[in-house]
Amino acid sequence: MADSTTQVTLDKIVSLSKRRGFIFQNSEIYGGLGSTWDYGPLGVELKRNIKELWWRDNVMKRDDLVGLDAAILMNTKVWEASGHLDNFSDPLVECRLCHHRFRADHLEANASCPDCAGELTEPQQFNLMFKSHTGPVESSGGLVYFRPETAQGIFVNFLNVLNATRRKLPFGIAQIGKSFRNEITPGNFVFRTREFEQMEIEYFVKPGTDEEWHNHWLERRRDWYMQYGIDPNHIRIRRHGEDELSHYAKATSDIEYLFPWGWGEIQGTANRTNFDLLAHSDSSGQSLSYFDEESGDHKVPYVIEPSFGVDRAVMAFLTDAYQEEEAPTSSGKMEKRVFLKLHHSLAPVKVAVLPLSRNEALVPLAKEIHNKIRSSETIAGLVQYDETQSIGKRYRRQDEIGTPLCVTVDFDSIDDDEVTIRERDSMQQTRVPISTLVEALNKLTEKTT
Ligand code: GAP
Repeated sequence: MADSTTQVTLDKIVSLSKRRGFIFQNSEIYGGLGSTWDYGPLGVELKRNIKELWWRDNVMKRDDLVGLDAAILMNTKVWEASGHLDNFSDPLVECRLCHHRFRADHLEANASCPDCAGELTEPQQFNLMFKSHTGPVESSGGLVYFRPETAQGIFVNFLNVLNATRRKLPFGIAQIGKSFRNEITPGNFVFRTREFEQMEIEYFVKPGTDEEWHNHWLERRRDWYMQYGIDPNHIRIRRHGEDELSHYAKATSDIEYLFPWGWGEIQGTANRTNFDLLAHSDSSGQSLSYFDEESGDHKVPYVIEPSFGVDRAVMAFLTDAYQEEEAPTSSGKMEKRVFLKLHHSLAPVKVAVLPLSRNEALVPLAKEIHNKIRSSETIAGLVQYDETQSIGKRYRRQDEIGTPLCVTVDFDSIDDDEVTIRERDSMQQTRVPISTLVEALNKLTEKTT
């Protein structure tokens, strides 16, 4: 967003996402599948960058976290013990006239149908877990659920990780993976979907230190979004009321982002106490505890859980980066310019190499420069070569996909061995020798990070 008062509309984000290859409707040629989306060539890079930064900052750069990649399908007893079979539900109401269904907690008390004003049924609890069967015969013995959170894969591996890594409290386990929820009312693009990706940390602490660690993670994680460019005015922490808490939580605070339709959760941070480890200990008969050297007995750790949605982060970063301004074209006319002011580390394409035209004198030199930048160790990410359309249109395209730097090869380059670097945000152009181009790009990158 240009500033906190200029709100980009959701339509603009959806349209840019499709036009430029960030996000497409799933199964589009068959009319789509409700609220299901596919990440295109640039979306996949943006998503990968978010996940890699999260992993680097939380797992690689901290001494107290390790990683895990658990399977999506788990023993059904996991979901019995965790309480998801009994409690992981939303209140569902149905219109007696048009039969559309809604989440009762998203409507005013005594509301009528938002679509046809018909009378709504009494709320019924609807379990959000998707079911399937293992093996060739659909029997209740083979019943399995698609995980609705990655967290349970961490809890049931607590002992394995503790034994394999000889960790002492506090320590955490981080995981990135798909989760599935049969949401009653998905919507707002990739904000609420039935298949989505989570990045979760279960951080195991000594009982009594849980509140301190809860605050630690909440502040760390909020700062993380701002570190990668989110405007502090567009992010806030909201504490859950007693009536909103999940069945496992003693306290939860959401990190919310100001989306085009209002504030929405991008990360939940819950104090899950020892609920899950105790429940799995009771149910499995295996003690999921640690030996506390101070007290000389076994204790079940408390858990702080920063749980982050990758798709919601994609939306928040795209929305915050979206900018519109009046800018001069190469002929001096003023025109609307759309650009994504993405942090350099998030930008799908780091550098674009553009010959001024498709002229046969320019193309070989431009390709040579493209290869030189691409093979440099320091430019970490995609380097694109583009010779189609006019140079003005190519700049606009790179602006719209958030490429921080463009390198233009023109006819003077053949004689003076220099090229022009154009910066996305200021559109400032600087002439640099080809021999020191990579160093110049690195310097400009440092300036923008
Ligand atoms: N393990 C705790 C847990 O799953 P949650 O608040 O239900 O907590 C955590 O989910 C995060 O997962 C949310 O903050 C959100 O970013 C993401 N998320 C949850 N449901 C989602 C959905 N239907 N579509 C997209 N992202 C979702």
